[in-house]
Amino acid sequence: MAAIPQQLIGQSPAWLATLDQISGSAALDRSMLVIGERGTGKELVAARLHFLSPRWEKTYIPVNCAALSDELLDSELFGHEQGAFTGASKRRLGRFERADGGTLFLDEIATASARVQEKLLRVIEYGEFERLGGDQTLKVDVRVIGATNVDLPAAVKKGNFRADLLDRLAFDVITLPPLRIRKSDIFPLAEHFGRKMAVELGEESFPGFAPEVMEFMADYDWPGNVRELKNVAERAVGRAFNDEGGLTAPIRQINIDPFEAPWRLTNEDKPDIPKPISPDTPDIQGTDFTERTHAFELSLVKEALSQCENHQGRASKYLGLTYHQFRGLLRKHGLRK
Ligand SMILES: Nc1ncnc2c1ncn2[C@@H]1O[C@H](COP(=O)(O)OP(=O)(O)O)[C@@H](O)[C@H]1O
Ligand SMILES: [Mg+2]
Repeated sequence: MAAIPQQLIGQSPAWLATLDQISGSAALDRSMLVIGERGTGKELVAARLHFLSPRWEKTYIPVNCAALSDELLDSELFGHEQGAFTGASKRRLGRFERADGGTLFLDEIATASARVQEKLLRVIEYGEFERLGGDQTLKVDVRVIGATNVDLPAAVKKGNFRADLLDRLAFDVITLPPLRIRKSDIFPLAEHFGRKMAVELGEESFPGFAPEVMEFMADYDWPGNVRELKNVAERAVGRAFNDEGGLTAPIRQINIDPFEAPWRLTNEDKPDIPKPISPDTPDIQGTDFTERTHAFELSLVKEALSQCENHQGRASKYLGLTYHQFRGLLRKHGLRK
């Protein structure tokens, strides 16, 4: 049995229309395809198709076709007899046998070899197959849901995918909308992932994302769709937590590409780095002790902030202070917004 189905977030018209289609298709006991760019939620949708179907109490098994070599995929799906190939020391039941009565989800189905495609066609049409190295024909009742981000009709034209298998699978096709055409889902998804991350970090509440971050998220195209948004949101929450010793204020920094130099969101232009004053800097000479230490302290804090791009967690380290000591200084000098 697969885990309890995850919550599907989204209220945009395109997503609601997709959910409608999913509910309708789930009831049809036929093979079908879930198509969509990477990260659009194909795996989640396939699981939902199963759990909304009459087979919901039976087994749901996902298999990623791209994760296995041709021979391993064949034996994973259809099983093998003892001695079927080097290393096959015992008979092994395949996923089709184990999913009998339930649903088999074939992710990245376009990568299946010609031989596996041929066997898939037969098991979908007649429910029949043989284990590798076996001659007994077995019968199963399995609903197949395939997923891919490959243009299957084009793959058929190029001779890379069987036309008859595509016809079978394409009984119903659910095409998931990319995130960039359902922008109103970005904010609820980001909140959802951010909140979950905060809980994971042991925080009691989640301060949310700052408006300028939300604005950036809404404008960005999200080529990696929901998966990319999830990573960006979780990373931002994780970093804020580490740098600031907790989640105290709305998150103001996000980083889209973890490989590139961080792209930072700041409200103000980066100030020129002020030259730190020293206790004997001329313009604070002559004033009294309290004013001079106050001015010196303030200049150290400002220098640390600008050296650290206004990052309070790093600025406190820069000065060798704890985060709380540093926040105390900010308060004292009226630098907290
Ligand atoms: N509508 C949604 N609500 C909540 N989480 C989602 C939604 N769509 C996708 N996700 C999450 O995004 C990630 C990518 O989804 P997945 O189904 O693996 O995408 P795909 O198989 O299309 O590449 C997963 O962590 C999934 O839980
Ligand atoms: Mg996937």
